[in-house]
Amino acid sequence: MKKFWLILSVLMFVFFVSCGDPDDEETPQPADGNSETDENAEPEEQNDAEEEQQGGEEQETEEETSDDSQEPQETGKILVAYFSYTGNTKLIAEYAAELLGADLAEIVPAQPYTADDTNYNSPDCRARTEYNDPASRPAISGSIGNMAQYDTVLIAHPIWYGDAPRIMDTFMESYDFSGKTLTTFCTSAQSPLGPSAENLKKFAPSATWLESRRFEIGSSREQVGEWLSSIGLAE
Ligand SMILES: Cc1cc2nc3c(=O)[nH]c(=O)nc-3n(C[C@H](O)[C@H](O)[C@H](O)COP(=O)(O)O)c2cc1C
Repeated sequence: MKKFWLILSVLMFVFFVSCGDPDDEETPQPADGNSETDENAEPEEQNDAEEEQQGGEEQETEEETSDDSQEPQETGKILVAYFSYTGNTKLIAEYAAELLGADLAEIVPAQPYTADDTNYNSPDCRARTEYNDPASRPAISGSIGNMAQYDTVLIAHPIWYGDAPRIMDTFMESYDFSGKTLTTFCTSAQSPLGPSAENLKKFAPSATWLESRRFEIGSSREQVGEWLSSIGLAE
């Protein structure tokens, strides 16, 4: 009989031990990882979403920044407009336009000047006659399309009789320069800037005027660059 109880006890022990196994099997369940991973996945997804959001915001910021960087280009569009009879002023104007990445426009007389027209020694040549008549407005051929798009205009001319040629007066009267930044530059054989800049300023008193400059014939690109830097138009 004792043997029977012993065997029964052993069998019951084995039974309880084997019943405990399921408990042990349950242990991996939570450790199954998947549920925890799934729980963790949610925040990750959230993080992804946040990152996407942040990415979106970053994009917006970048767009805003690029908009900002475009702004000065839009409002800072520059025109170099020049009149040049023998090409000296044209060369300086080309340097300036190149250095500034500006548009370049020639002021072309409707009636081209001839050698006789510009004979400095003749008391009644066309150029001198125009100079002697402050009301003279030599006509310009063509016009600058959409002057309104330019924020800054550099106005270039040779010195004739110590001043700007009258065709420059025609140019100044042809456009509305209010709100723009303007400057003038010129070339001459020897005369200084003289009254040229001040006289042209009278046509656009509400514009912001930068310091003008007279260049010697054959001035270099570097000299033009130095002047542009000095007036804040170039680095
Ligand atoms: C009609 C006329 C008048 C001029 N008057 C002067 C002058 O008063 N002082 C001067 O230094 N040079 C004078 N010059 C020389 C020009 O200013 C100089 O050659 C200038 O660089 C010409 O520029 P452009 O080649 O762009 O026309 C005159 C030239 C001409 C044709």
